[in-house]
Amino acid sequence: MRRTPLPGPKAQEILRRKEAAVPSSLSVYVPTIVASAEGALVHDVDGNTFIDMSGGIGCLNVGHAAPDVVTAVQEQAARFTHTDFTVIPYEPYIAMAERLAQLAPGPWPKKAALFNSGAEAVENAVKFSRAHTGRPALIAFSGAFHGRTLLAMTLTSKVHPYKAGFGPFAPEVYRAPYAYCYRCPLGLRHPSCGIACADELERMLTTHVAAESVSALVIEPVQGEGGFVVPPREFLQRLEGICRSNGINFIADEVQTGFGRTGRLFACEHFGLTPDLMVLAKSLAAGMPLSAVVGRAEVMDAAPDSGIGGTYVGNPVACAAGLAVLDTCASADLPGQAERLGERLRGRLLQLQERFAAIGDVRGLGAMLAVELVEDRQSKAPARELTGRVLARALEGGAIFLRAGIHGNVIRVLMPLVIRESELDEALDVLEAALRAETTRSGS
Ligand SMILES: Cc1ncc(COP(=O)(O)O)c(C=O)c1O
Repeated sequence: MRRTPLPGPKAQEILRRKEAAVPSSLSVYVPTIVASAEGALVHDVDGNTFIDMSGGIGCLNVGHAAPDVVTAVQEQAARFTHTDFTVIPYEPYIAMAERLAQLAPGPWPKKAALFNSGAEAVENAVKFSRAHTGRPALIAFSGAFHGRTLLAMTLTSKVHPYKAGFGPFAPEVYRAPYAYCYRCPLGLRHPSCGIACADELERMLTTHVAAESVSALVIEPVQGEGGFVVPPREFLQRLEGICRSNGINFIADEVQTGFGRTGRLFACEHFGLTPDLMVLAKSLAAGMPLSAVVGRAEVMDAAPDSGIGGTYVGNPVACAAGLAVLDTCASADLPGQAERLGERLRGRLLQLQERFAAIGDVRGLGAMLAVELVEDRQSKAPARELTGRVLARALEGGAIFLRAGIHGNVIRVLMPLVIRESELDEALDVLEAALRAETTRSGS
């Protein structure tokens, strides 16, 4: 698979140009330059091949260069690439909105608006909600990640590298504890805690912000960047109930969890949630810049004329990709595939946990799975350095795994759901070898 040390000679030359031309804050994780990719494989300019367990950070549930997506993009690009939907509208945008409204959970009439990125969709979900309620405040959660624009960054709760030095932040954002039971934010023991995180939110509505001032609660049904944290069903249901009884909009950020990753089309379905608004991006259009807010028509129609939009939002080429993704999701049963792959993956990760004391927790839903590395299982001290070394060694072995977690000690799996079982097994062999080499070295 790997032919040269990384970066190879051709990649080195291009990366040197990158150093000179691109700001250093855009550091690269895999020290190479991609030449082509298909399915779950990525090939670099020096002839090295990698198994991509990152999927462009969860954008490629349908795989790299999915044939139907490629054809749809080519055909649409040949027809027209841009008009600005609000100047001259086009059918792919409308078809996309219809399909999303049909697929989103909830019994009420629904509408959808399209944007470019996850962060932009989060910002716009809040605009819809504020216009609907006339209230300013927002509830966000510990460990959340919602993006890098001002409001999305404010809603995010990982300080380094996402917030430090970038303040002042947007006002009226109140932080509640997320039910991360492996590391209870309240220091309690699940399940005897009685879902104390939800009690804490109720208390906040007395001690921090009046319920009638809160427009929306913004939450990832399973936290992504925060470390693939799956909260108890009761936690999310209690939050939804608190929202309903106080006229607060429940906004589910499904940017990372959407489009089959968790074994359902949307993670909300696992928990029986019917969010007022849902935020979608990433695998929505196989890496083409497309995001969406979909939800209750009453909320979506509350913003004033021309209050929502943007030059490129719902670009026709991205919409064509998105429609092909939705077709593929259904025809290839991607949620079912995520469930099957997830079972195989979970089995293997649990085996690794038996072999390596450094694996404190194995968790996730469907194919959205992760392992959390600790110095020892008693103290649960986060093994951040070890995680970095294991990831680097896996990369040397030809498998691209990503880091996550507020302590940077979680290895997450976001591979394309079209990965072959042999490729998945090979990537996990590489991960196992990396864990063996690094834990033997450190004595973990
Ligand atoms: C849950 C969640 N919300 C929002 C975002 C932001 O999306 P984008 O990077 O497209 O702005 C991300 C990105 O990782 C995410 O995982």
